[in-house]
Amino acid sequence: MSFKAGRALIVVDPFFESADFVGEIRSTLSTKGIASEVFSDFQPDPTDLNVLAGAARFTTFGADSILAIGGGSALDVAKMIGVSAANPGPISQFQGYHRVADAGPPLIAVPTTAGTGSEATKVAVVTDTTRNVKMMILDAKLMPTAAVVDYELTFSMPKPLTAHVGVDALTHGIEAYVSRKANSLTDPVALSSITKIHANLYNAWSDAGNEKAREAMSLAALQGGLAFTNSSVCLVHGMSRPLGLVFRLPHGLSNSVLLPTVTRFSWPGAKVRYAEIARAIQLVSEKTSDEAACEALAGWLDQLNSDLRVPRLRECCGGDMDRFRLTLAKMAADALESGSPQNNPVVPEATQIMELFELAW
Ligand SMILES: [Fe+2]
Repeated sequence: MSFKAGRALIVVDPFFESADFVGEIRSTLSTKGIASEVFSDFQPDPTDLNVLAGAARFTTFGADSILAIGGGSALDVAKMIGVSAANPGPISQFQGYHRVADAGPPLIAVPTTAGTGSEATKVAVVTDTTRNVKMMILDAKLMPTAAVVDYELTFSMPKPLTAHVGVDALTHGIEAYVSRKANSLTDPVALSSITKIHANLYNAWSDAGNEKAREAMSLAALQGGLAFTNSSVCLVHGMSRPLGLVFRLPHGLSNSVLLPTVTRFSWPGAKVRYAEIARAIQLVSEKTSDEAACEALAGWLDQLNSDLRVPRLRECCGGDMDRFRLTLAKMAADALESGSPQNNPVVPEATQIMELFELAW
Protein backbone atom coordinates (compact mmCIF):
# COMPACT_ATOMS: atom_id res chain seq x y z
CA MET A 1 0.00 0.00 0.00
CA SER A 2 1.31 3.42 -0.83
CA PHE A 3 -0.10 6.88 -1.29
CA LYS A 4 1.25 10.35 -1.88
CA ALA A 5 1.00 13.12 0.71
CA GLY A 6 2.43 16.61 0.40
CA ARG A 7 0.27 18.56 2.83
CA ALA A 8 -1.18 16.81 5.88
CA LEU A 9 -3.88 18.09 8.20
CA ILE A 10 -3.06 16.67 11.62
CA VAL A 11 -6.32 16.21 13.50
CA VAL A 12 -5.16 15.76 17.05
CA ASP A 13 -7.00 15.45 20.35
CA PRO A 14 -6.70 18.81 22.21
CA PHE A 15 -5.07 16.90 25.10
CA PHE A 16 -2.11 16.04 22.84
CA GLU A 17 -2.02 19.26 20.81
CA SER A 18 1.25 20.44 22.35
CA ALA A 19 2.68 16.98 23.14
CA ASP A 20 6.31 16.38 22.26
CA PHE A 21 5.53 13.44 20.03
CA VAL A 22 3.24 15.55 17.84
CA GLY A 23 6.07 18.05 17.37
CA GLU A 24 8.42 15.18 16.52
CA ILE A 25 5.97 13.82 13.96
CA ARG A 26 5.65 17.26 12.35
CA SER A 27 9.39 17.72 12.07
CA THR A 28 9.78 14.22 10.62
CA LEU A 29 7.08 14.99 8.05
CA SER A 30 8.86 18.24 7.25
CA THR A 31 12.14 16.46 6.56
CA LYS A 32 10.20 14.26 4.12
CA GLY A 33 8.86 17.34 2.34
CA ILE A 34 5.37 17.09 3.86
CA ALA A 35 3.94 20.34 5.21
CA SER A 36 1.47 20.01 8.08
CA GLU A 37 -1.06 21.98 10.03
CA VAL A 38 -2.69 21.04 13.32
CA PHE A 39 -6.47 21.07 13.87
CA SER A 40 -7.69 20.51 17.45
CA ASP A 41 -10.82 22.61 17.54
CA PHE A 42 -13.31 19.89 18.34
CA GLN A 43 -15.07 18.53 21.39
CA PRO A 44 -15.37 15.06 22.91
CA ASP A 45 -18.17 13.28 21.01
CA PRO A 46 -17.74 15.69 18.09
CA THR A 47 -20.45 17.56 16.23
CA ASP A 48 -21.26 18.37 12.63
CA LEU A 49 -20.02 21.91 13.30
CA ASN A 50 -16.61 20.52 14.38
CA VAL A 51 -16.46 18.55 11.13
CA LEU A 52 -17.35 21.54 8.98
CA ALA A 53 -14.71 23.68 10.74
CA GLY A 54 -12.12 20.98 10.14
CA ALA A 55 -13.12 20.57 6.50
CA ALA A 56 -12.79 24.33 6.01
CA ARG A 57 -9.29 24.18 7.53
CA PHE A 58 -8.43 21.22 5.30
CA THR A 59 -9.44 23.20 2.22
CA THR A 60 -7.82 26.49 3.29
CA PHE A 61 -4.54 24.73 4.01
CA GLY A 62 -4.72 22.89 0.69
CA ALA A 63 -4.30 19.56 2.45
CA ASP A 64 -4.19 16.31 0.53
CA SER A 65 -4.07 13.88 3.47
CA ILE A 66 -5.07 13.54 7.13
CA LEU A 67 -3.16 12.24 10.13
CA ALA A 68 -5.57 11.55 13.00
CA ILE A 69 -4.15 11.24 16.52
CA GLY A 70 -6.27 10.68 19.62
CA GLY A 71 -9.23 8.77 20.97
CA GLY A 72 -12.39 7.86 19.11
CA SER A 73 -13.54 11.48 18.91
CA ALA A 74 -10.38 12.59 17.11
CA LEU A 75 -10.46 9.63 14.76
CA ASP A 76 -14.17 9.99 14.00
CA VAL A 77 -14.01 13.74 13.40
CA ALA A 78 -10.96 13.23 11.17
CA LYS A 79 -12.78 10.61 9.10
CA MET A 80 -15.70 12.94 8.57
CA ILE A 81 -13.47 15.95 7.80
CA GLY A 82 -12.09 13.92 4.92
CA VAL A 83 -15.56 12.90 3.76
CA SER A 84 -16.88 16.46 4.07
CA ALA A 85 -13.92 17.89 2.14
CA ALA A 86 -14.67 15.50 -0.70
CA ASN A 87 -18.49 15.82 -0.56
CA PRO A 88 -19.76 19.34 0.19
CA GLY A 89 -23.06 19.85 1.99
CA PRO A 90 -24.58 19.04 5.37
CA ILE A 91 -23.08 16.18 7.37
CA SER A 92 -26.56 14.71 7.93
CA GLN A 93 -26.61 13.57 4.29
CA PHE A 94 -24.21 10.78 5.27
CA GLN A 95 -26.22 9.39 8.21
CA GLY A 96 -26.94 5.70 7.93
CA TYR A 97 -25.45 3.05 5.72
CA HIS A 98 -23.35 3.53 2.57
CA ARG A 99 -24.27 7.11 1.79
CA VAL A 100 -20.81 8.53 1.11
CA ALA A 101 -20.36 9.20 -2.61
CA ASP A 102 -16.66 10.07 -2.87
CA ALA A 103 -13.91 8.75 -0.62
CA GLY A 104 -12.00 11.40 1.27
CA PRO A 105 -8.22 11.82 1.19
CA PRO A 106 -5.84 9.18 2.61
CA LEU A 107 -6.13 9.03 6.39
CA ILE A 108 -3.64 7.55 8.85
CA ALA A 109 -5.17 6.77 12.26
CA VAL A 110 -3.07 6.78 15.42
CA PRO A 111 -5.20 5.82 18.44
CA THR A 112 -4.17 7.04 21.88
CA THR A 113 -6.82 5.12 23.82
CA ALA A 114 -7.48 1.40 23.86
CA GLY A 115 -11.19 1.46 23.26
CA THR A 116 -13.13 2.56 20.22
CA GLY A 117 -11.14 0.63 17.63
CA SER A 118 -12.07 3.45 15.25
CA GLU A 119 -8.65 3.03 13.64
CA ALA A 120 -9.99 -0.16 12.05
CA THR A 121 -13.67 0.61 11.47
CA LYS A 122 -15.81 1.98 8.68
CA VAL A 123 -17.91 3.85 11.22
CA ALA A 124 -17.99 7.39 12.60
CA VAL A 125 -20.38 8.88 15.13
CA VAL A 126 -21.05 12.62 14.92
CA THR A 127 -23.76 14.71 16.60
CA ASP A 128 -26.22 16.56 14.37
CA THR A 129 -26.59 19.82 16.33
CA THR A 130 -29.75 20.80 14.45
CA ARG A 131 -31.74 17.68 15.36
CA ASN A 132 -29.79 16.83 18.53
CA VAL A 133 -29.12 13.28 17.35
CA LYS A 134 -25.92 11.25 17.39
CA MET A 135 -25.62 10.13 13.80
CA MET A 136 -23.98 6.82 13.00
CA ILE A 137 -22.31 6.97 9.62
CA LEU A 138 -21.24 3.64 8.19
CA ASP A 139 -19.47 3.32 4.86
CA ALA A 140 -16.44 1.37 3.67
CA LYS A 141 -14.99 4.70 2.54
CA LEU A 142 -14.52 5.61 6.22
CA MET A 143 -11.96 2.86 6.77
CA PRO A 144 -8.59 4.51 7.48
CA THR A 145 -5.90 3.97 4.87
CA ALA A 146 -3.56 2.74 7.61
CA ALA A 147 -3.47 2.52 11.39
CA VAL A 148 -0.44 2.91 13.62
CA VAL A 149 -1.21 1.28 16.97
CA ASP A 150 1.40 2.08 19.61
CA TYR A 151 0.43 1.11 23.15
CA GLU A 152 2.93 3.57 24.63
CA LEU A 153 0.53 6.35 23.64
CA THR A 154 -2.03 4.92 26.08
CA PHE A 155 0.09 5.25 29.24
CA SER A 156 -1.21 8.74 29.95
CA MET A 157 -4.86 7.68 30.12
CA PRO A 158 -6.34 8.40 33.56
CA LYS A 159 -7.99 5.52 35.41
CA PRO A 160 -11.64 6.33 34.59
CA LEU A 161 -10.82 6.67 30.89
CA THR A 162 -8.93 3.37 30.91
CA ALA A 163 -11.97 1.73 32.51
CA HIS A 164 -14.62 3.24 30.27
CA VAL A 165 -12.89 2.79 26.92
CA GLY A 166 -11.78 -0.69 27.99
CA VAL A 167 -15.38 -1.74 28.69
CA ASP A 168 -16.36 -0.12 25.36
CA ALA A 169 -13.83 -2.37 23.64
CA LEU A 170 -15.26 -5.34 25.54
CA THR A 171 -18.73 -4.33 24.37
CA HIS A 172 -17.49 -4.34 20.77
CA GLY A 173 -16.20 -7.88 21.13
CA ILE A 174 -19.35 -9.18 22.83
CA GLU A 175 -21.77 -7.40 20.49
CA ALA A 176 -19.83 -8.50 17.40
CA TYR A 177 -19.99 -12.11 18.66
CA VAL A 178 -23.69 -12.22 19.51
CA SER A 179 -24.91 -9.99 16.66
CA ARG A 180 -27.28 -11.33 14.04
CA LYS A 181 -24.54 -10.27 11.62
CA ALA A 182 -21.81 -12.34 13.31
CA ASN A 183 -19.91 -14.57 10.92
CA SER A 184 -17.07 -17.04 10.84
CA LEU A 185 -14.50 -14.36 10.00
CA THR A 186 -15.40 -12.06 12.89
CA ASP A 187 -16.05 -14.74 15.55
CA PRO A 188 -12.40 -15.66 16.32
CA VAL A 189 -11.33 -12.02 16.28
CA ALA A 190 -14.12 -11.07 18.68
CA LEU A 191 -13.32 -13.93 21.07
CA SER A 192 -9.61 -13.11 20.98
CA SER A 193 -10.40 -9.49 21.88
CA ILE A 194 -12.69 -10.53 24.75
CA THR A 195 -10.16 -12.93 26.26
CA LYS A 196 -7.42 -10.29 26.15
CA ILE A 197 -9.65 -7.77 27.88
CA HIS A 198 -10.67 -10.31 30.51
CA ALA A 199 -7.01 -10.97 31.28
CA ASN A 200 -5.65 -7.42 31.04
CA LEU A 201 -8.15 -4.61 31.56
CA TYR A 202 -8.02 -4.65 35.34
CA ASN A 203 -4.21 -4.71 35.29
CA ALA A 204 -4.07 -1.78 32.84
CA TRP A 205 -6.48 0.12 35.07
CA SER A 206 -4.73 -0.59 38.37
CA ASP A 207 -1.18 -0.16 37.06
CA ALA A 208 -1.05 2.54 34.38
CA GLY A 209 2.52 1.73 33.37
CA ASN A 210 1.94 -2.01 32.95
CA GLU A 211 3.39 -2.48 29.48
CA LYS A 212 2.09 -6.01 28.98
CA ALA A 213 -1.46 -5.04 29.93
CA ARG A 214 -1.42 -1.82 27.91
CA GLU A 215 -0.10 -3.61 24.84
CA ALA A 216 -2.74 -6.33 25.14
CA MET A 217 -5.51 -3.74 25.55
CA SER A 218 -4.37 -1.80 22.47
CA LEU A 219 -4.43 -4.99 20.44
CA ALA A 220 -7.79 -6.03 21.93
CA ALA A 221 -9.32 -2.65 21.04
CA LEU A 222 -8.05 -2.97 17.47
CA GLN A 223 -9.51 -6.49 17.27
CA GLY A 224 -12.81 -5.26 18.72
CA GLY A 225 -13.01 -2.61 16.01
CA LEU A 226 -12.19 -5.12 13.29
CA ALA A 227 -14.79 -7.53 14.63
CA PHE A 228 -17.73 -5.18 14.94
CA THR A 229 -17.09 -3.31 11.71
CA ASN A 230 -17.42 -6.63 9.86
CA SER A 231 -20.29 -7.84 12.07
CA SER A 232 -22.10 -5.09 13.97
CA VAL A 233 -22.75 -3.53 17.32
CA CYS A 234 -26.16 -4.17 18.89
CA LEU A 235 -28.45 -2.91 21.61
CA VAL A 236 -25.83 -1.55 24.05
CA HIS A 237 -24.54 0.86 21.42
CA GLY A 238 -28.05 1.64 20.22
CA MET A 239 -29.07 2.76 23.72
CA SER A 240 -25.71 4.33 24.52
CA ARG A 241 -25.75 6.96 21.79
CA PRO A 242 -28.93 8.81 22.88
CA LEU A 243 -28.01 8.34 26.55
CA GLY A 244 -24.62 9.91 25.95
CA LEU A 245 -26.13 12.77 24.03
CA VAL A 246 -28.87 13.67 26.53
CA PHE A 247 -26.69 13.38 29.63
CA ARG A 248 -23.35 14.40 28.08
CA LEU A 249 -21.70 11.08 28.88
CA PRO A 250 -18.58 10.03 26.96
CA HIS A 251 -19.15 7.06 24.67
CA GLY A 252 -17.19 4.57 26.75
CA LEU A 253 -19.02 5.48 29.95
CA SER A 254 -22.49 5.34 28.42
CA ASN A 255 -21.74 1.85 27.10
CA SER A 256 -20.16 0.68 30.35
CA VAL A 257 -23.19 1.52 32.49
CA LEU A 258 -25.51 -0.38 30.14
CA LEU A 259 -23.51 -3.51 29.30
CA PRO A 260 -24.47 -5.79 32.26
CA THR A 261 -28.19 -4.95 32.13
CA VAL A 262 -28.43 -5.32 28.36
CA THR A 263 -26.52 -8.61 28.53
CA ARG A 264 -29.07 -10.06 30.98
CA PHE A 265 -31.89 -8.98 28.67
CA SER A 266 -30.22 -10.33 25.54
CA TRP A 267 -28.76 -13.71 26.44
CA PRO A 268 -32.03 -15.68 26.20
CA GLY A 269 -31.92 -14.88 22.47
CA ALA A 270 -28.46 -16.36 21.94
CA LYS A 271 -27.70 -18.67 24.88
CA VAL A 272 -25.09 -20.69 23.01
CA ARG A 273 -23.17 -17.62 21.88
CA TYR A 274 -23.07 -15.93 25.29
CA ALA A 275 -22.18 -19.25 26.92
CA GLU A 276 -19.29 -19.67 24.49
CA ILE A 277 -17.95 -16.30 25.61
CA ALA A 278 -18.19 -17.35 29.27
CA ARG A 279 -16.31 -20.57 28.50
CA ALA A 280 -13.69 -18.80 26.36
CA ILE A 281 -12.68 -16.67 29.34
CA GLN A 282 -12.93 -19.71 31.62
CA LEU A 283 -15.59 -18.25 33.86
CA VAL A 284 -17.29 -21.65 33.82
CA SER A 285 -16.41 -25.19 32.82
CA GLU A 286 -17.39 -27.01 29.66
CA LYS A 287 -19.96 -28.93 31.69
CA THR A 288 -21.81 -25.85 32.92
CA SER A 289 -25.23 -25.39 31.35
CA ASP A 290 -25.64 -22.61 28.81
CA GLU A 291 -28.07 -20.76 31.07
CA ALA A 292 -25.70 -20.84 34.04
CA ALA A 293 -22.81 -19.77 31.82
CA CYS A 294 -24.80 -16.79 30.50
CA GLU A 295 -25.71 -15.71 33.99
CA ALA A 296 -22.06 -16.09 35.06
CA LEU A 297 -21.05 -13.81 32.21
CA ALA A 298 -23.56 -11.16 33.26
CA GLY A 299 -22.35 -11.49 36.84
CA TRP A 300 -18.74 -11.00 35.75
CA LEU A 301 -19.71 -7.84 33.84
CA ASP A 302 -21.32 -6.47 37.02
CA GLN A 303 -18.20 -7.35 39.00
CA LEU A 304 -15.89 -5.82 36.40
CA ASN A 305 -17.77 -2.52 36.50
CA SER A 306 -17.58 -2.60 40.27
CA ASP A 307 -13.85 -3.40 40.27
CA LEU A 308 -13.15 -0.59 37.78
CA ARG A 309 -15.34 1.83 39.75
CA VAL A 310 -17.67 2.43 36.84
CA PRO A 311 -20.53 4.46 38.34
CA ARG A 312 -24.17 3.40 38.18
CA LEU A 313 -26.34 5.14 35.65
CA ARG A 314 -28.07 7.16 38.38
CA GLU A 315 -24.72 8.68 39.36
CA CYS A 316 -24.12 9.76 35.75
CA CYS A 317 -27.53 11.34 35.28
CA GLY A 318 -27.91 13.57 38.31
CA GLY A 319 -29.83 11.06 40.44
CA ASP A 320 -33.26 12.48 39.53
CA MET A 321 -35.35 9.51 38.44
CA ASP A 322 -38.39 11.63 37.52
CA ARG A 323 -36.33 13.78 35.17
CA PHE A 324 -34.67 10.68 33.79
CA ARG A 325 -38.07 9.13 33.00
CA LEU A 326 -39.02 12.18 30.93
CA THR A 327 -36.14 11.42 28.55
CA LEU A 328 -36.85 7.73 28.06
CA ALA A 329 -39.37 7.81 25.20
CA LYS A 330 -37.15 9.90 22.94
CA MET A 331 -34.03 7.93 23.86
CA ALA A 332 -35.82 4.66 23.06
CA ALA A 333 -37.07 6.03 19.73
CA ASP A 334 -33.59 7.31 18.81
CA ALA A 335 -32.05 3.97 19.80
CA LEU A 336 -34.40 2.08 17.48
CA GLU A 337 -33.91 4.66 14.72
CA SER A 338 -30.15 3.96 14.70
CA GLY A 339 -30.69 0.39 13.50
CA SER A 340 -28.29 -1.14 16.04
CA PRO A 341 -30.95 -2.76 18.29
CA GLN A 342 -32.23 -4.68 15.26
CA ASN A 343 -28.95 -6.65 15.25
CA ASN A 344 -29.46 -7.74 18.86
CA PRO A 345 -30.21 -11.39 19.76
CA VAL A 346 -33.47 -10.15 21.28
CA VAL A 347 -34.90 -7.23 19.30
CA PRO A 348 -36.66 -4.97 21.79
CA GLU A 349 -39.77 -2.85 21.53
CA ALA A 350 -39.47 0.81 22.55
CA THR A 351 -41.16 0.08 25.88
CA GLN A 352 -38.58 -2.64 26.63
CA ILE A 353 -35.74 -0.21 25.93
CA MET A 354 -37.32 2.23 28.37
CA GLU A 355 -37.51 -0.56 30.97
CA LEU A 356 -33.84 -1.43 30.38
CA PHE A 357 -32.80 2.16 31.02
CA GLU A 358 -34.72 2.00 34.31
CA LEU A 359 -33.13 -1.34 35.22
CA ALA A 360 -29.65 0.09 34.64
CA TRP A 361 -30.47 3.08 36.83
FE1 LIG B 1 -18.20 1.68 21.09
